Amino acid sequence: MNKYKILKKIAGLAFVAISFSTHAQQSGGMWIPTEINETEMKAMGMKVSAKDIFDPMKPSIEDAVPQFNGGCTSEIISPNGLLLTNHHCGYSMIQSHSSVDHNYLKNGFWAKNYSEELPNPGAHVAFITDIIDITPKILTGTENMSAAELGKTLKERMEDVLKNTPKGKFEELEIKPMYAGNKYYLYKKLIFKDIRLVGTPPESIGKFGSDTDNWVWPRHTGDFSIFRIYANKNNEPAEYSAENVPYKPKHFLPVSIKGIKENDFTFVYGFPGRTNEYLPAIALEKTLKETNPARIEVRDLILKNWDEKMRTEEAIKIKYASKYASLANYWKKWIGENQGLERSDAVKKRKDYEQFLISKNPATAKTIAELEDLYQKQAPHALNKVYFDEISRGAEILRVANIYSSAIDVASVNKLDANGSKRVINALKAFYKDYDASLDLKLSAKLLMMYSKKVSPDLLPEELKLLSDEQKCYDWLQKNAAILSDPEFINNLKDGTFSAENINTLKSNPVISLFRNMRARYVEKSGNANDALQTQIDLIQKRYMAEQMKTDTQKKYFPDANSTLRVTYGRVKGSNVRDGVSYHYQTYLDGVMEKYKPGDYEFDVPVELIEIYKNKDFGQYADHTGRVPVAFTATNHTTGGNSGSPAIDAKGNLVGLNFDRQWEGTMSDLNYDPEICRNIMVDTRYVLFIIEKIGKATWLIDEMKLVK
Ligand code: ARG
Ligand code: ASP
Repeated sequence: MNKYKILKKIAGLAFVAISFSTHAQQSGGMWIPTEINETEMKAMGMKVSAKDIFDPMKPSIEDAVPQFNGGCTSEIISPNGLLLTNHHCGYSMIQSHSSVDHNYLKNGFWAKNYSEELPNPGAHVAFITDIIDITPKILTGTENMSAAELGKTLKERMEDVLKNTPKGKFEELEIKPMYAGNKYYLYKKLIFKDIRLVGTPPESIGKFGSDTDNWVWPRHTGDFSIFRIYANKNNEPAEYSAENVPYKPKHFLPVSIKGIKENDFTFVYGFPGRTNEYLPAIALEKTLKETNPARIEVRDLILKNWDEKMRTEEAIKIKYASKYASLANYWKKWIGENQGLERSDAVKKRKDYEQFLISKNPATAKTIAELEDLYQKQAPHALNKVYFDEISRGAEILRVANIYSSAIDVASVNKLDANGSKRVINALKAFYKDYDASLDLKLSAKLLMMYSKKVSPDLLPEELKLLSDEQKCYDWLQKNAAILSDPEFINNLKDGTFSAENINTLKSNPVISLFRNMRARYVEKSGNANDALQTQIDLIQKRYMAEQMKTDTQKKYFPDANSTLRVTYGRVKGSNVRDGVSYHYQTYLDGVMEKYKPGDYEFDVPVELIEIYKNKDFGQYADHTGRVPVAFTATNHTTGGNSGSPAIDAKGNLVGLNFDRQWEGTMSDLNYDPEICRNIMVDTRYVLFIIEKIGKATWLIDEMKLVK
């Protein structure tokens, strides 16, 4: 934009400047624990101090909040290492211990003593023991470097820090960029690997409402499961061993059953995965108008086809349940995200904000224009990427082709030895366990036709161009996919290894070739360009981020989520999501009964719970209304990864377990709006009620420190 145009805009937008600065004290934010706004938190009611929340030198709350298995959060709630997280975070572990005879998913599981707790190979939790701002070490003197030089320098400097920072015997180090690369932080972590399953409610409580209620408020899910951390005799991290003992934590959270009320201060402590709050309007627009609709479109087709079969065939329902849930999770989120972006007029508001920035600092005009140009250039590639990624995973026959394809690649460099063969075979066996070929081949034909129509024509391999309609494509798959759609091939391998002849058979298989050609064309004609543009966008976004911080000094900045430990705080609150629609902040057991549909796969309720409800056998868990609270909402700014995070009250006690957000506010990853974005937590009173009344595991409650 030229200077004249900018000046004209400024004149027209003086009012915008005023309205933005009054908006400055906005809520939201995911703060690095060493940089929280203690004054504001105390003004909101917090009684503990910033040092109580994070202090590398002495026991503090972070010593009770490890990341759970890389993707979720958890918290220690007893002096014996008892660990609370969501049911959906422990799901794969619960599933791995389940069989027809011991169906813990269906019936729940409660250990009666330490010896009944179940080990989970591969599971781990990571505590953060220190957070150090190393920005000067990484960025000093890099201001005028070219992109290539910068990349190389950053890599060298980070390696240097990792090599030269002293660390404890069991500690690991990790460096993370913040504020789009304008800052760098070093994390010290302590990782425990003996994590045992202690208890879980049945799915009809832990996953109550399933996909229909997922992302939805009002909510009635008891989404929790319980584990325990084990350590060696010296209380140090150790691989699983029968000799290990319950871990004695430096700190554990007392569990409050006093209850919460509207406007109470809470903070959520955990490991949010990814947000993008500082993008230019053009990026929001592309997500809203192009990439989200494309993703939703592909998943619509997959989910519809799976669902049709799952409803009529029990075996398929079991095989596809977990795949369906994970595909449906983000499908539903993107739909909510788009509706929220539309309803809040997010793109227009972001454009106005850009004009406000330009009015205060004309240099940002150039940055925004560069970003606009890059996003426009990237748009067709970004769409190709969505279709390639979603379809090459959703057409499951292409996933098999992908696994075999990596076997071919390994075999072409080295012989595929027994170990390599075993890895491929295990991956395929795990895949076939939950696969239905007749369902998939029909769907794969549809997905391949969608791919043909949607990606740029030069991405299509010749053989795909020949498959001009769905029926042709299906017949072709039927004819050529036999060795892929059936485990026969791997079952018949001599000595369980791939011979040269086997590899040749795979190499000449038309479906594997189709996948390899699709991928090669995609990478060559679009994927590489997409990546190169993304590198440029990231570099300019770094500058744009710095300019935003320098220009709009009224605003409070927090770095986008990147799976590092964060604190977010807010108040217990309901919401006004649309004109005339307002939500209460609390749900009750009565609501579970209202939703109850006998025999339904999402809304059935265990008979024991119905009995307890009828007899009002609520013990100490009913509130002043005589009802048992189930879940509540607050204004804490959370995202994926915050599942299992503790919601902590003003005094440092656990009052809830975070597990979701309300649908109308899922746009919070791109555009947090304090009016409509709410996080959803299970009330600790419901967690304890279920442990005691359904699990009959009072020994666990006896371990905890209750605040009444
Ligand atoms: N929406 C929540 C989150 O993003 C919960 C997902 C698990 N539940 C489900 N029904 N798929 O992870
Ligand atoms: N359900 C999410 C999780 O698993 C939390 C969220 O996205 O709000 O982390």
